Amino acid sequence: MNITLKVWRQKGPNQLGAMETHKMTEVSGDMSFLEMMDVLNDNLIRGGKEPFAFDHDCREGICGSCSMFINGEAHGPGRNVTTCQLHMRSFKDGETIHVEPWRSAAFPVIKDLSVDRSAFDRIIQSGGYVSVNTSGATIDANAIPIPKHDADEAFDSATCIGCGACVATCKNSSAMLFVAAKVSQLSLLPQGKPESKERVIRMVDQMDLEGFGNCTNTGACEVECPKGISITNIARMNREFLSSNLTSK
Ligand code: SF4
Ligand code: FES
Repeated sequence: MNITLKVWRQKGPNQLGAMETHKMTEVSGDMSFLEMMDVLNDNLIRGGKEPFAFDHDCREGICGSCSMFINGEAHGPGRNVTTCQLHMRSFKDGETIHVEPWRSAAFPVIKDLSVDRSAFDRIIQSGGYVSVNTSGATIDANAIPIPKHDADEAFDSATCIGCGACVATCKNSSAMLFVAAKVSQLSLLPQGKPESKERVIRMVDQMDLEGFGNCTNTGACEVECPKGISITNIARMNREFLSSNLTSK
Protein backbone atom coordinates (compact mmCIF):
# COMPACT_ATOMS: atom_id res chain seq x y z
CA MET A 1 0.00 0.00 0.00
CA ASN A 2 1.01 3.62 -0.50
CA ILE A 3 0.53 6.18 2.25
CA THR A 4 1.31 9.83 2.96
CA LEU A 5 2.73 10.56 6.38
CA LYS A 6 2.53 13.93 8.09
CA VAL A 7 4.90 13.66 11.04
CA TRP A 8 5.63 16.22 13.77
CA ARG A 9 9.17 17.57 13.56
CA GLN A 10 10.50 19.56 16.55
CA LYS A 11 14.22 20.09 17.08
CA GLY A 12 14.07 20.35 20.85
CA PRO A 13 12.13 21.48 23.93
CA ASN A 14 10.58 24.96 23.71
CA GLN A 15 11.22 25.12 19.96
CA LEU A 16 8.59 25.63 17.32
CA GLY A 17 7.58 22.44 15.51
CA ALA A 18 5.70 21.67 12.31
CA MET A 19 4.29 18.73 10.36
CA GLU A 20 6.63 17.27 7.72
CA THR A 21 5.23 15.31 4.76
CA HIS A 22 6.68 12.02 3.53
CA LYS A 23 5.35 9.62 0.89
CA MET A 24 5.77 5.91 1.60
CA THR A 25 5.39 3.22 -1.06
CA GLU A 26 5.07 -0.57 -0.82
CA VAL A 27 4.11 -0.52 2.84
CA SER A 28 3.15 -4.02 3.96
CA GLY A 29 -0.08 -4.38 5.93
CA ASP A 30 1.76 -6.85 8.19
CA MET A 31 4.24 -4.21 9.37
CA SER A 32 3.69 -2.75 12.80
CA PHE A 33 3.37 1.04 12.92
CA LEU A 34 6.83 1.28 14.47
CA GLU A 35 8.35 -0.94 11.76
CA MET A 36 6.86 1.43 9.19
CA MET A 37 8.48 4.34 11.10
CA ASP A 38 11.80 2.41 11.04
CA VAL A 39 11.56 2.18 7.24
CA LEU A 40 10.82 5.91 7.04
CA ASN A 41 13.86 6.66 9.24
CA ASP A 42 16.01 4.31 7.17
CA ASN A 43 14.98 6.17 4.01
CA LEU A 44 15.75 9.51 5.67
CA ILE A 45 19.20 8.38 6.82
CA ARG A 46 20.01 7.03 3.32
CA GLY A 47 18.97 10.41 1.91
CA GLY A 48 21.30 12.22 4.33
CA LYS A 49 18.39 13.58 6.41
CA GLU A 50 17.72 13.42 10.13
CA PRO A 51 15.52 10.51 11.30
CA PHE A 52 12.50 11.16 13.54
CA ALA A 53 13.04 10.63 17.26
CA PHE A 54 10.41 8.37 18.86
CA ASP A 55 10.30 6.20 21.96
CA HIS A 56 10.08 2.42 21.97
CA ASP A 57 11.58 -0.42 23.97
CA CYS A 58 9.78 -3.75 24.21
CA ARG A 59 7.64 -3.55 21.04
CA GLU A 60 5.36 -6.07 22.79
CA GLY A 61 2.84 -3.77 24.47
CA ILE A 62 4.54 -4.05 27.86
CA CYS A 63 6.90 -1.13 28.52
CA GLY A 64 4.55 1.77 27.68
CA SER A 65 7.23 3.79 25.83
CA CYS A 66 5.69 4.01 22.37
CA SER A 67 3.69 7.20 22.57
CA MET A 68 2.26 8.44 19.30
CA PHE A 69 -0.93 10.35 18.60
CA ILE A 70 -2.05 8.90 15.26
CA ASN A 71 -4.86 10.50 13.28
CA GLY A 72 -6.09 12.23 16.40
CA GLU A 73 -6.09 9.14 18.65
CA ALA A 74 -3.58 8.02 21.26
CA HIS A 75 -1.98 4.79 19.93
CA GLY A 76 -4.01 5.16 16.72
CA PRO A 77 -7.31 3.66 15.59
CA GLY A 78 -7.05 0.23 17.29
CA ARG A 79 -8.66 -0.58 20.65
CA ASN A 80 -6.63 -2.11 23.50
CA VAL A 81 -3.40 -1.91 21.50
CA THR A 82 -0.26 0.13 21.87
CA THR A 83 1.40 1.86 18.89
CA CYS A 84 3.93 -0.98 18.66
CA GLN A 85 1.09 -3.50 18.30
CA LEU A 86 -0.84 -1.48 15.75
CA HIS A 87 -0.48 -2.90 12.23
CA MET A 88 -0.52 -1.04 8.94
CA ARG A 89 -3.50 -3.13 7.78
CA SER A 90 -5.56 -0.84 10.06
CA PHE A 91 -5.08 1.88 7.42
CA LYS A 92 -6.29 2.20 3.83
CA ASP A 93 -4.21 2.34 0.66
CA GLY A 94 -3.70 6.01 -0.25
CA GLU A 95 -4.50 7.24 3.27
CA THR A 96 -2.86 10.30 4.82
CA ILE A 97 -1.73 9.55 8.38
CA HIS A 98 -0.96 12.31 10.89
CA VAL A 99 1.57 11.42 13.59
CA GLU A 100 2.08 13.69 16.60
CA PRO A 101 3.61 13.42 20.08
CA TRP A 102 1.52 13.30 23.28
CA ARG A 103 0.29 16.85 23.91
CA SER A 104 0.34 17.91 27.56
CA ALA A 105 2.18 20.65 29.45
CA ALA A 106 3.19 17.99 31.99
CA PHE A 107 4.76 15.90 29.17
CA PRO A 108 7.07 18.41 27.43
CA VAL A 109 8.36 17.43 23.99
CA ILE A 110 12.04 16.40 24.07
CA LYS A 111 12.36 15.99 20.31
CA ASP A 112 9.95 15.17 17.45
CA LEU A 113 7.65 12.42 18.83
CA SER A 114 9.54 11.85 22.06
CA VAL A 115 8.13 13.40 25.25
CA ASP A 116 9.36 13.61 28.84
CA ARG A 117 7.10 11.43 31.03
CA SER A 118 9.23 11.64 34.17
CA ALA A 119 6.24 13.30 35.91
CA PHE A 120 4.78 9.77 36.13
CA ASP A 121 7.99 8.50 37.78
CA ARG A 122 7.78 11.26 40.40
CA ILE A 123 4.15 10.33 41.15
CA ILE A 124 5.20 6.70 41.69
CA GLN A 125 8.15 7.81 43.85
CA SER A 126 5.75 9.81 46.03
CA GLY A 127 3.85 6.70 47.17
CA GLY A 128 3.36 4.02 44.51
CA TYR A 129 5.10 1.28 46.44
CA VAL A 130 4.75 -1.01 49.45
CA SER A 131 7.33 -0.76 52.25
CA VAL A 132 8.57 -4.17 53.33
CA ASN A 133 10.43 -4.96 56.54
CA THR A 134 12.95 -7.55 55.43
CA SER A 135 14.51 -8.32 58.82
CA GLY A 136 13.63 -11.67 60.37
CA ALA A 137 11.89 -14.58 58.69
CA THR A 138 10.30 -13.86 55.34
CA ILE A 139 6.58 -14.60 55.26
CA ASP A 140 5.55 -16.90 52.44
CA ALA A 141 3.68 -14.98 49.72
CA ASN A 142 0.77 -17.43 49.95
CA ALA A 143 0.40 -17.07 53.74
CA ILE A 144 -2.06 -14.15 53.40
CA PRO A 145 -5.34 -15.32 51.83
CA ILE A 146 -6.76 -12.80 49.36
CA PRO A 147 -10.35 -13.00 48.08
CA LYS A 148 -10.41 -13.91 44.37
CA HIS A 149 -12.47 -10.83 43.47
CA ASP A 150 -9.92 -8.49 45.12
CA ALA A 151 -6.98 -10.27 43.50
CA ASP A 152 -8.62 -10.06 40.06
CA GLU A 153 -9.37 -6.34 40.46
CA ALA A 154 -5.84 -5.62 41.70
CA PHE A 155 -4.36 -7.51 38.74
CA ASP A 156 -6.61 -5.63 36.30
CA SER A 157 -5.38 -2.31 37.74
CA ALA A 158 -1.78 -3.53 37.68
CA THR A 159 -1.89 -3.96 33.91
CA CYS A 160 -1.42 -0.19 33.49
CA ILE A 161 1.87 0.26 31.62
CA GLY A 162 2.27 3.98 32.36
CA CYS A 163 2.14 4.97 28.69
CA GLY A 164 0.35 8.29 29.26
CA ALA A 165 -2.29 7.81 26.55
CA CYS A 166 -4.94 8.71 29.14
CA VAL A 167 -3.28 12.11 29.69
CA ALA A 168 -2.79 12.75 25.97
CA THR A 169 -6.44 11.89 25.27
CA CYS A 170 -8.04 13.86 28.10
CA LYS A 171 -9.16 17.41 27.29
CA ASN A 172 -7.98 18.37 30.79
CA SER A 173 -4.63 16.51 30.52
CA SER A 174 -5.73 14.56 33.56
CA ALA A 175 -3.56 11.76 34.91
CA MET A 176 -6.37 10.42 37.11
CA LEU A 177 -6.68 7.07 35.28
CA PHE A 178 -2.97 6.33 35.65
CA VAL A 179 -2.79 7.42 39.30
CA ALA A 180 -6.04 5.63 40.18
CA ALA A 181 -4.78 2.38 38.63
CA LYS A 182 -1.57 2.57 40.66
CA VAL A 183 -3.41 3.47 43.89
CA SER A 184 -5.94 0.66 43.35
CA GLN A 185 -3.46 -2.07 42.56
CA LEU A 186 -1.87 -1.57 45.99
CA SER A 187 -4.81 -0.60 48.18
CA LEU A 188 -6.95 -3.56 47.06
CA LEU A 189 -4.42 -5.99 48.54
CA PRO A 190 -3.73 -6.52 52.27
CA GLN A 191 -0.01 -5.85 51.72
CA GLY A 192 -0.82 -2.33 50.52
CA LYS A 193 -3.43 -1.42 53.13
CA PRO A 194 -1.15 -0.20 56.00
CA GLU A 195 0.13 2.73 53.88
CA SER A 196 -3.02 3.33 51.84
CA LYS A 197 -4.10 6.59 53.57
CA GLU A 198 -0.77 8.37 53.14
CA ARG A 199 -0.24 6.85 49.69
CA VAL A 200 -3.36 8.26 48.06
CA ILE A 201 -2.84 11.73 49.55
CA ARG A 202 0.83 11.88 48.52
CA MET A 203 0.22 10.60 44.99
CA VAL A 204 -2.71 12.95 44.33
CA ASP A 205 -0.70 15.89 45.74
CA GLN A 206 2.22 15.04 43.44
CA MET A 207 -0.14 14.69 40.47
CA ASP A 208 -1.44 18.23 41.13
CA LEU A 209 2.11 19.53 41.59
CA GLU A 210 3.12 18.17 38.18
CA GLY A 211 0.39 20.25 36.54
CA PHE A 212 -2.02 17.53 35.40
CA GLY A 213 -5.67 18.59 35.15
CA ASN A 214 -8.64 17.14 36.96
CA CYS A 215 -11.14 14.51 35.81
CA THR A 216 -14.51 15.66 34.45
CA ASN A 217 -15.79 12.15 33.67
CA THR A 218 -15.73 12.30 29.88
CA GLY A 219 -14.44 8.70 29.81
CA ALA A 220 -12.09 9.33 26.85
CA CYS A 221 -9.13 7.94 28.83
CA GLU A 222 -10.87 4.57 29.29
CA VAL A 223 -11.63 4.35 25.54
CA GLU A 224 -8.05 5.05 24.45
CA CYS A 225 -6.24 3.14 27.22
CA PRO A 226 -4.37 0.25 25.54
CA LYS A 227 -4.87 -1.90 28.64
CA GLY A 228 -8.57 -1.24 29.12
CA ILE A 229 -8.14 0.30 32.58
CA SER A 230 -11.62 1.13 33.88
CA ILE A 231 -12.62 4.57 35.17
CA THR A 232 -14.14 2.78 38.18
CA ASN A 233 -10.56 3.03 39.49
CA ILE A 234 -10.97 6.83 39.53
CA ALA A 235 -14.16 6.55 41.60
CA ARG A 236 -12.33 4.23 44.03
CA MET A 237 -9.40 6.66 44.31
CA ASN A 238 -11.71 9.63 44.91
CA ARG A 239 -13.44 7.71 47.74
CA GLU A 240 -10.08 6.75 49.23
CA PHE A 241 -8.76 10.30 48.92
CA LEU A 242 -11.81 11.78 50.62
CA SER A 243 -11.91 9.30 53.50
CA SER A 244 -8.13 9.54 53.98
CA ASN A 245 -8.33 13.32 54.26
CA LEU A 246 -11.28 13.14 56.67
CA THR A 247 -9.67 10.57 58.96
CA SER A 248 -5.99 11.64 58.84
CA LYS A 249 -4.71 13.57 61.84
S1 SF4 B 1 -4.17 4.01 32.56
FE1 SF4 B 1 -4.00 3.14 30.47
S2 SF4 B 1 -3.60 4.93 29.17
FE2 SF4 B 1 -3.14 5.56 31.27
S3 SF4 B 1 -0.97 5.19 31.58
FE3 SF4 B 1 -2.03 3.32 32.26
S4 SF4 B 1 -2.06 1.99 30.47
FE4 SF4 B 1 -1.58 4.04 29.70
S1 FES C 1 7.35 -0.33 22.71
FE1 FES C 1 6.84 -1.15 24.66
S2 FES C 1 4.66 -0.90 24.78
FE2 FES C 1 5.16 -0.26 22.74
